[in-house]
Amino acid sequence: MKIKEEMFIVEGSNHQRNLKGSIKVNGSKNGALPIIASAVLFSGPIKLTNVPKIEDVKRMSELMKELGLKVIKDKNGGMVLDGSTTKKHVLTREVSKRLRASVILLGPILGRLGKVSFPHPGGCVIGARPIDIFIENFKKMGCTIEENDGVYTLTAKKEGLIGTEITFRIQSVTATETFIMAGVLAKGKTILKNVALEPEVTELALFLKNAGAKIEGIGTTTLEIEGNGLLNGLEKETAIIPDRIEAGSFLILGAISGKNLTIENCEPKHLEVPIKILEDAGVEIETTENSITIKGLKKGFENIKSFNIKTHEYPGFPTDLQAPMTVLLTQGEGEGTVFETIFEGRLNYTDELKRMGADTKMYDAHHVIVKGPNHLKGKDLQSPDIRAGLAFIIASNIAEGKSTIGNAYLIDRGYETIEKRLKKIGMNIKRVKS
Ligand code: EPU
Repeated sequence: MKIKEEMFIVEGSNHQRNLKGSIKVNGSKNGALPIIASAVLFSGPIKLTNVPKIEDVKRMSELMKELGLKVIKDKNGGMVLDGSTTKKHVLTREVSKRLRASVILLGPILGRLGKVSFPHPGGCVIGARPIDIFIENFKKMGCTIEENDGVYTLTAKKEGLIGTEITFRIQSVTATETFIMAGVLAKGKTILKNVALEPEVTELALFLKNAGAKIEGIGTTTLEIEGNGLLNGLEKETAIIPDRIEAGSFLILGAISGKNLTIENCEPKHLEVPIKILEDAGVEIETTENSITIKGLKKGFENIKSFNIKTHEYPGFPTDLQAPMTVLLTQGEGEGTVFETIFEGRLNYTDELKRMGADTKMYDAHHVIVKGPNHLKGKDLQSPDIRAGLAFIIASNIAEGKSTIGNAYLIDRGYETIEKRLKKIGMNIKRVKS
């Protein structure tokens, strides 16, 4: 697979509020990926709308085709996946190495074909990202495991996956998703305890339930799934939910650089904690059922007031908004601590912010202290992952002078034609070959 070597060039506003107008949020990356993967559970086609046209969705579509499914996409975010032709059980190294989310296919493939082979999944470089929870619990469902030259093969019993009770030691988004899907095709009852409550997980469970799966407890931390065989294809279209991380990133961008910036097509109820934190810090925000407007700073505030954040499973502050929020803290008055509890190695990008002029100090792999406000200067940067990449764009926009952000592919993994949308609200950004 050939990747285009591209980068973004941003001409900074030199700490002026330069963004206004409205920006639309696309369908959710982490919402679309498990629903696409779930096509393996169906004996006929499923029809999706609002699917984001991003690199991770392209990689997932490639994997689905390799498994034998028919995938038809249209220009407007429509997608039809026909599971009736699912026949291969092998996830090839080339694609799965680029997509951590390929692990969500393990449950559906094992349930349907009784066997799955896969390399250790890739994706963002944010810590070690083990897959022990997957292996341990597929063994509980009766699977054996072999490893050969970095490729794992899980094999279910002759009668298929066996329903069992699983207690997750931590709330894992993709582990919850894969075991929900495993449970749908397993023999008997699967009980999942301490499941993740992220909206993307709930949406997957609701989608499968609407398609006929027997799932109880949706929206709580215990799910009970009665295996009932393949699901029938669905005539009705299903819309992917708006991306709460994209909306949250635009919200933070607006809090730093916006004057009357409206974020459309979003679900503010998925962002209650980030909104509360920003309001307390002095940002004037108005919400409707599906939009957020950042007016600027509240009366009496000359600067954003610094605060502490601690990443947490939903509905707490999301780890995927940690990097943009840290950029905002560089502009906050006073001292703020960032405590990253979910991933190790997800604060390394702060070295780059320091190079731009931020006053950050890393205490350990999980803690950074940010003192502000600081004058940032444009630099040549490399995007280390999807979220820190966007955070660099946000920092570059406020900085003085020009920045370049290399590894555009990593940003494209999660955000569709980001430069076009940001340009429309006033950012001086362009994409060039690097
Ligand atoms: N973990 C284990 N063992 C496992 C699986 C996970 O120790 O077998 C650990 C992880 O290392 C981490 C913690 O569990 O410390 C929780 O991570 P989780 O498993 O929930 O993360 P994930 O399912 O791999 C999803 C999103 C991430 C998002 C996290 C947390 C998808 C495809 N990915 O990852 O999204 O950060 O949940 O909300 O849904 C992104 O979009 O940029 C992104 C990284």
